[in-house]
Amino acid sequence: MSLRIEPLDPSHRPLLADFQNPHPGLIEYLRRYALRHAEKDLLARTYVAIDSGTGVPRLAGYFSLATVSVERDSVAPIPALDRLPRFPIPGILLARLAVDTRIRGQGLGRYLFEEALGLTLQLARSGPVAFRLFVTDALDAEAASFYGHFGCVPLSDGFPCRMVLDLRPLL
Ligand SMILES: CC(C)(COP(=O)(O)OP(=O)(O)OC[C@H]1O[C@@H](n2cnc3c(N)ncnc32)[C@H](O)[C@@H]1OP(=O)(O)O)[C@@H](O)C(=O)NCCC(=O)NCCS
Repeated sequence: MSLRIEPLDPSHRPLLADFQNPHPGLIEYLRRYALRHAEKDLLARTYVAIDSGTGVPRLAGYFSLATVSVERDSVAPIPALDRLPRFPIPGILLARLAVDTRIRGQGLGRYLFEEALGLTLQLARSGPVAFRLFVTDALDAEAASFYGHFGCVPLSDGFPCRMVLDLRPLL
């Protein structure tokens, strides 16, 4: 694979139809809403991984970032967060992350997760705004297991399951 990560823009439109994933909602979001949410509605910014290794560029995976506010009481099981004042806790939401079915298990999920976290840490370290959490919503047990692999902690038992990573030790 020869990969580059780019913010989704109209030039990527011809690549969207070929993306495959077991979750129809993740395909539909990419095809129908991601560009609109980034450019018009200002709800989330999507980043795409473009694989040019085979000659014909292919959209190999994507993730979307937005802001989020987490109820203070829901993080009570995490001792470092339970010490915070009883206000909602601000964070960055990894709203979606998906890898094309045909290249699962080859490291792209990790690459996308680390890229999303890297952008978040860059923003946190540059200082114009403060936030404490990196947050994601796992659709099912498999996704929860994937995010757990990177240290994200579940806040409930059911699905979709909100999961959080405390950014403070990483800053
Ligand atoms: C979950 C998903 C993003 C993983 O992508 P991937 O490219 O197959 O994952 P990678 O090959 O990069 O694996 C990354 C690491 O996570 C681990 N991992 C992958 N899937 C895992 C799972 N289901 N449970 C636990 N660990 C998992 C791998 O062992 C690997 O560990 P390592 O880097 O220490 O060796 C992908 O399978 C996918 O798109 N699934 C459907 C959509 C989805 O569930 N998205 C999650 C958000 S809701």
